[in-house]
Amino acid sequence: MTEPSYLAAVRESYDTVAVDYVAHVKNPDELDPLSRAMLGAFAELVRGSGRGPVADLGCGPGKVTAYLAGLGVSAFGVDVSPKMIELAREAYPELQFMVGSMTGLDIGTEALGGILAYYSTHHTPPELLPVVFGEFHRALAPGGHLMLVGYVGNGERLRPAQGHGGHAVSYESHLLPADRITELLGQAGLVVVARLVQEPGEGMKRTIASFMVRKPESVPPSQGGGTGTGASASPGGPPSP
Ligand SMILES: C[S@@+](CC[C@H](N)C(=O)[O-])C[C@H]1O[C@@H](n2cnc3c(N)ncnc32)[C@H](O)[C@@H]1O
Repeated sequence: MTEPSYLAAVRESYDTVAVDYVAHVKNPDELDPLSRAMLGAFAELVRGSGRGPVADLGCGPGKVTAYLAGLGVSAFGVDVSPKMIELAREAYPELQFMVGSMTGLDIGTEALGGILAYYSTHHTPPELLPVVFGEFHRALAPGGHLMLVGYVGNGERLRPAQGHGGHAVSYESHLLPADRITELLGQAGLVVVARLVQEPGEGMKRTIASFMVRKPESVPPSQGGGTGTGASASPGGPPSP
């Protein structure tokens, strides 16, 4: 698809703030326990699934990509900001990073075992989220996992004048309700299997939500896989309510 016009502002802004962003953003091992637990759970889900590598989409300077790699996940990063990718390559030369946009991924169909979108989808105008989630669905192998983490709200559209380091930025942020994000993921054929909503406080200024999402397995109709949700009975699971 032709590049959406909002991407120029995102690219230019993150190119400008990239060096200060690296200095300010926490390493994942300094995150709060719940955020680390979600990343750990995602790593456990995708590690050794045999479905393909994990793409960290909107990877920025690659700190979270490297964290996943440290948890034994085969991970690589993609970001629309060339400066972010340059910094990621410098910091983690053993990992692969490439410039690209989640609105049109240069990644084969069903090639990925997992996708991480960590604070990277909120700059997407809501009307383009179906394009992005459609790309996630296309690139994920059946049964593949998506972890999406980001700010949520009541549909606010924020236009901050400054970003990290006090540099002028021109991107916008869109804070959608968690239910709307769930709905849009569902419309793209992706199933939200768990959500964690963390309220502001304890160092967090805004509500954030983590979504654990799955692309359904393709189950042949002859095996009774009408909906193909990938759900299965879990031996030894929790007791019935
Ligand atoms: C807030 S930063 C988060 C970076 C990284 N995930 C982290 O947690 O440190 C948002 C990143 O998403 C990238 N981004 C935004 N929209 C994108 C798109 N359509 N495709 C690829 N990257 C995008 C930006 O360039 C930026 O590096």
